[in-house]
Amino acid sequence: MAFDIDMIKKVYAQVAERVDAAREVTGKPLTLAEKILYSHLWDGKSKEAFTRGKDYVDFAPDRIACQDATAQMALLQFMQAGKKKVAVPTTVHCDHLIQAKVGADKDLQSAMNTSSEVFNFLESVSDKYGIGFWKPGAGIIHQVVLENYAFPGGMMIGTDSHTVNAGGLGMVAIGVGGADAVDVMAGMAWELKFPKLIGVKLTGKLSGWTAPKDVILKVAEILTVKGGTDAIVEYFGPGATSMSCTGKGTICNMGAEIGATTSTFGYDESMERYLRATERAEVADAANKVKEHLTADPEVYANPEQYFDQVIEINLSELGPLLNGPFTPDLSTEVGTSMTEKAKANDWPLQVEWGLIGSCTNSSYEDLSRASSIAQQALDKGLKMKSELGINPGSEQVRYTAERDGILGIFEKLDAKIFTNACGPCIGQWARYSDPKNAPKNSIVHSFNRNFAKRADGNPNTHAFVASPELTAAIAVSGRLDFNPLTDKLLNEDGQEVMFDEPTGWELPPKGFEVEDAGYLAPVEDGSGVQVNVSPTSERLQLLTPFEPIGDEIKGAKLLIKAFGKCTTDHISMAGPWLRYRGHLDNISNNCLIGAVNAFGKKTNFVKNQLDGEFGGVPDTARAYKAAGVPTIVVGDHNYGEGSSREHAAMEPRHLGVVAVIVKSFARIHETNLKKQGMLGLTFVNEADYDKIKEDDTINFLDLNAFAPGKTLSIEFVHADGSKDVIEVNHTYNDSQIEWFKEGSALNLIKKQNA
Ligand code: F3S
Repeated sequence: MAFDIDMIKKVYAQVAERVDAAREVTGKPLTLAEKILYSHLWDGKSKEAFTRGKDYVDFAPDRIACQDATAQMALLQFMQAGKKKVAVPTTVHCDHLIQAKVGADKDLQSAMNTSSEVFNFLESVSDKYGIGFWKPGAGIIHQVVLENYAFPGGMMIGTDSHTVNAGGLGMVAIGVGGADAVDVMAGMAWELKFPKLIGVKLTGKLSGWTAPKDVILKVAEILTVKGGTDAIVEYFGPGATSMSCTGKGTICNMGAEIGATTSTFGYDESMERYLRATERAEVADAANKVKEHLTADPEVYANPEQYFDQVIEINLSELGPLLNGPFTPDLSTEVGTSMTEKAKANDWPLQVEWGLIGSCTNSSYEDLSRASSIAQQALDKGLKMKSELGINPGSEQVRYTAERDGILGIFEKLDAKIFTNACGPCIGQWARYSDPKNAPKNSIVHSFNRNFAKRADGNPNTHAFVASPELTAAIAVSGRLDFNPLTDKLLNEDGQEVMFDEPTGWELPPKGFEVEDAGYLAPVEDGSGVQVNVSPTSERLQLLTPFEPIGDEIKGAKLLIKAFGKCTTDHISMAGPWLRYRGHLDNISNNCLIGAVNAFGKKTNFVKNQLDGEFGGVPDTARAYKAAGVPTIVVGDHNYGEGSSREHAAMEPRHLGVVAVIVKSFARIHETNLKKQGMLGLTFVNEADYDKIKEDDTINFLDLNAFAPGKTLSIEFVHADGSKDVIEVNHTYNDSQIEWFKEGSALNLIKKQNA
């Protein structure tokens, strides 16, 4: 489906030369991750070796993928760049805005009714700027990408954390914020801290009830939710090559749950089989010609301790099925008796209300076929379902093929709900309760990736456990969290004791994939005549107006808020119900900093308006200052802006008139996002100066007209009693970032350069 074979061939044409150059500068054999990174340098062939975990490097990704929630602001920004087309192949996938309630057809229709303006906007912008558009119901972004676009040795970025799923097909695929995607769409480089490398050697072979999911559940147990931070996890060994391509995708997908930059596998026969089965023989043929560059050098896997920063070994033959949770994906329990004890000790409900199979993690044909083999046994052995069962196929191609092959029919005979090919319960788009906050304590088991509180159904009392699709199916039949299908018997409708046989399934559909309408819309060749319509009265979408430059004369500014303690991007721009306004900067700005604790009074969303002495919410106070033409500043503590790369956390304060954010230290991505929006992100030279800033201060920048790389700035804080403190602040702006500030934003500069 419109995969770009010319682009892929170009990548392969230069891979040998680039890998050789990288081997020369590093003076050592290379891991797969290094080969992909070094062959995607923005400046072409490597001239220097980079320090892992330290150097920031410019890359040139091959592709971009965006989902409907994050694409809105990304595309609104891209429209400001003055470009006719995106600079690299890009796709948009409508999968997050579809609620699961009664079943696929009705749910899809109701999503069309409630979100049609967003879908229409995304479709028309895609058409205009040469972006491939996947309609609502076409599938979940990462499954669709794996089926259509991922290719061994490629580099991709995507505006979703589980973009990393494409590592299953040998990519380096990384989740980014919208601002990064916009840069690459506009033809700019993409910057990343050169990752550290973790090697996972898989020996033995999966069998019986053990699935690829159990590999990543085990890795999560070993590394914990933070263990992969700033690292690429590379899987290798006989256990890796013996696994299906979509199974590898599952493992890479949940690399996000251990905080890894991404995960990947070397090119092998399972990937070739998958490429051919998904009608990409051309890609497989091209990959075969350069296959030695699409995996690590042999010395690396022979001697991994020497080349990776950390090595883990897992024997798949000894691995058993696991259940991870509740509330965190790294809390592993082996099925059966250990779960009985743990659940009792921790008061986890042993009765399981729902089993859910799907999400971008586990919704392949293989996943559905293995789970259906358990469902079929339940029918054959006269077992009655003790929990409800829900299925979200990963794509229309998977759904259509699974329906043709009778797989969905098996689930339906057990009264399972077949939801839309979309994220649904995985992202809280599940109308399970009318009042989730007051819903009862219960347990569910699912084959998704994330299981923190409220993720699936908004109910803080839902204990969600993560398992393979086949184990999820078996537990759903049994209705027991501590059911061990390897040893436990179940009583059937005739009162007989029966046991499940091991699950079986197909890696790929024996009769091939089939689909009538995959749900893809190719953009028109010349999009110049395409109209993008956004209603001025829309509450969900708003065209952006370029930010005016702040200028070098900031005088008489007021303190909007001095944030106390932790202030993450969630404190700055909350998610939850606010997701609805992601495409409307003015409306979503009503959540600006409402989660931050004000150092004066230690309350959230309660700050003083110096113009009238009244106290009120942060957004309203900021709007009052803005209306009066008074610039504002935000002061913060350590690691300000940590969390996600959400660009709204920088755009909202900018929109509300904040000119500078002065903190003890920044999370780097947020600092860069502030720079991109043409604001000042500054750090105290002396951290103790944080304490000198008072609620009633008036703030004057003394030397902003001499703003230059490596030079501190001086800011005068005039206190209510007339006394003053002059505070020195550092910044990390380079020459081009100072240009962003002078032009009002990075996008303003790009537009000017394109004019
Ligand atoms: Fe969607 Fe859940 Fe994946 S929200 S993209 S299915 S993590």
